[in-house]
Amino acid sequence: MAFSLSGIFKSVSSFGGGDGSVLGIDIGSSSAKIVQLRASRGIAILETYGEIALGPYGHQPIGKAVKLSPEKTAEALIDLMKEANVTARQGGISIPFSSSLVSVIDLPNVDKESLKRIIPIEARKYIPIPIGDVTLDWFVIPRDESGEDSAFDQIQEVKPKATAAQEVLLVAIHNDLLQEYQTVAGTAGVTANFYEIEIFSAVRSSVGHGIAPILVVDLGASTTKMYVVERGVVRLTHLVTQGGQQMTEVLGRSLGWEFEKAERVKRERGLIDSTAYSVDENDRIKTAVLSTLSRVFSEVNRVLLSYGQRYNKNVAHVVLTGGGAALPGLMLAAKEQLSGEVEIANPFSRTEAPAFLENVLRQIGPGFAVAVGLALRKLRHD
Ligand SMILES: Nc1ncnc2c1ncn2[C@@H]1O[C@H](COP(=O)(O)OP(=O)(O)OP(=O)(O)O)[C@@H](O)[C@H]1O
Ligand SMILES: [Mg+2]
Repeated sequence: MAFSLSGIFKSVSSFGGGDGSVLGIDIGSSSAKIVQLRASRGIAILETYGEIALGPYGHQPIGKAVKLSPEKTAEALIDLMKEANVTARQGGISIPFSSSLVSVIDLPNVDKESLKRIIPIEARKYIPIPIGDVTLDWFVIPRDESGEDSAFDQIQEVKPKATAAQEVLLVAIHNDLLQEYQTVAGTAGVTANFYEIEIFSAVRSSVGHGIAPILVVDLGASTTKMYVVERGVVRLTHLVTQGGQQMTEVLGRSLGWEFEKAERVKRERGLIDSTAYSVDENDRIKTAVLSTLSRVFSEVNRVLLSYGQRYNKNVAHVVLTGGGAALPGLMLAAKEQLSGEVEIANPFSRTEAPAFLENVLRQIGPGFAVAVGLALRKLRHD
């Protein structure tokens, strides 16, 4: 599939569970998620899934973002695999968007072989560290043949052919980071068949095949990631350092609660009034939660607007993913504050699972968008 940057970051070894089951492993800043799938007659069967908070591995409460050593991360991953009864030992692992570089660059319209030579040279302009220290990959963005760009095409026609631009999606990851992930996987006894920047994984599990541009918003703990996907290709990315953790902190401060309590209340009642609290408390909880949310949403609207202006296209559809998308009452607030049609991602709908799990999978689903996407890629490329 176009957005999966096929072939990138493939590791050499490929032995594994042997039973055809594969893993998607998403190590986020606050929690690690795992999904195990198996293919049966072209259908992805959900075998097991699980999540583990990473905070406690760094002496922090549940919901806090932590930077753990590879050894500690591996310890958490081993615990998670045990708890979730994972049996597969191979699959894909995600790389945080914040540790990578993803950009769309304009290059002359040359053939594939020449691109191979040009890209490492061009990449120097975009990457502030020695090119030898990073692993590069790229994907030529197919031209829009829909005719909407006709004015643009006409302008291009008058230029000499050799200078007509082609757009290339460039991706870079620091080699040290890949090394760290190899250590995590190796220590946990998992074979990483590939590493993939989390946004491509989430797109695979959460975005349909339409051609209209869609904005995906990943509401994580330490950051919120936004990316516009058009015809299956990521066209624009944006990161803000506000997320669920800040929401909890603001709530705790304004109600005089410890982080643990604020985190619990946020998850249980979010924006929905509860009889467990007085009218005044309910109001204060809602105001505190909304204050972080509104700031994130205004950033979302800014991205919608700027994409619209830059490409002369309206992004009318927003898909919410990440653990933060499970906030009770989020849909209503999003509909009120976002310009565009809003949907909460349901990545498990791409898998087959027992019917009695349907509600729970829909509810926790947004947080598993990356993990499901990774496992799907492994299944499709096997
Ligand atoms: N039911 C819920 N209601 C509101 N927020 C929730 C709920 N469940 C989880 N969260 C929040 O979602 C965030 C975690 O989401 P997620 O697991 O996607 O983040 P992460 O992957 O660890 O972080 P990042 O993507 O920033 O690295 C936390 O801030 C957590 O409090
Ligand atoms: Mg995440």
